[in-house]
Amino acid sequence: MLNPRQRAVLTALVHGPVDPTSLGDRLELPTEAVASHVDALREHGFAVERGPDGFTLEAVPDYGYGVQADLAAPFVVDYAPTVTSTNDRARELAVRGETDVAVLADEQTGGRGRLARGWASPPGGIYCSLLLRPSLAPERLPLLALVAAVAAGDAASSVGVGTGLKWPNDVQGPDGRKLAGVLAESATADGAVAWAAVGLGLNANADPAGLPVGATSLRELTGGPVDRRAVTQRYLESFDARRRDLDGVLDAWRRRTTTLGRRVRVRTGDGDVVGEAVDVDATGALLIETADGTERVAAGDCEHLRPAAEG
Ligand code: BTN
Repeated sequence: MLNPRQRAVLTALVHGPVDPTSLGDRLELPTEAVASHVDALREHGFAVERGPDGFTLEAVPDYGYGVQADLAAPFVVDYAPTVTSTNDRARELAVRGETDVAVLADEQTGGRGRLARGWASPPGGIYCSLLLRPSLAPERLPLLALVAAVAAGDAASSVGVGTGLKWPNDVQGPDGRKLAGVLAESATADGAVAWAAVGLGLNANADPAGLPVGATSLRELTGGPVDRRAVTQRYLESFDARRRDLDGVLDAWRRRTTTLGRRVRVRTGDGDVVGEAVDVDATGALLIETADGTERVAAGDCEHLRPAAEG
């Protein structure tokens, strides 16, 4: 990830040409150190020219560290083109004591989905795990996955794609095919949340041939590649705003879900629960009206059934 001084130089470059002597004075750095931070930014893919006005940012990478430039959210980007899993990388960073990191990759070789499934992660997707240290009761941790799903919906809508949210945290395209999924992992210590890694896989520009049956992508739905840098920034900015208002997130999720009001079958570790999904509670658990009364389901695999009248 970029260190704080590299990030400070990048921010200065985003706002216009940088005179290395005045920026050095402001950051309390020798002029040569500013130049070496500029070199580091170049190594991360930024095009920086030196002219009479100083350093000028000519181009930013179209993903990866490009997401850091002019990002209006307090996340530090950690990018590698290929990783096994961004959630695994977030876990490594958690052990090192980091927080508020957005781990990004272009492809994953061991992408993981919920319920011990894999997650197809060909190049061109958005694979993003947010390492957080939230002040949150452990039972409310699932709300962070809802934040991610709602924020992914915001990101899709920024390129004109409408979405529906399927409990617990699938993001579906307008035709019900899966556009994104969320895998939230965490560690607790002394009964409190030590860290959480909220991983989003968003099928952005991946070749549709590399996606599983029943999946779609922004590229397919918009008819061409999308600006992954802008979409990822929109996701991060929305996530950051929404994580500060978890009750508001529940309402946003309720407004966008395709699950409530449907007959569902949820496979849980204790068997299937079948009935009408009527609401989510304050922890994000699904409330299902069954023949035997209301059941609360905290986790499971949810299938939307046709209305009972249709069999
Ligand atoms: C699901 O719908 O089953 C959840 C899929 C979550 C996939 C993302 S991709 C980024 C992060 N890294 C992983 O290995 N998984 C999550």
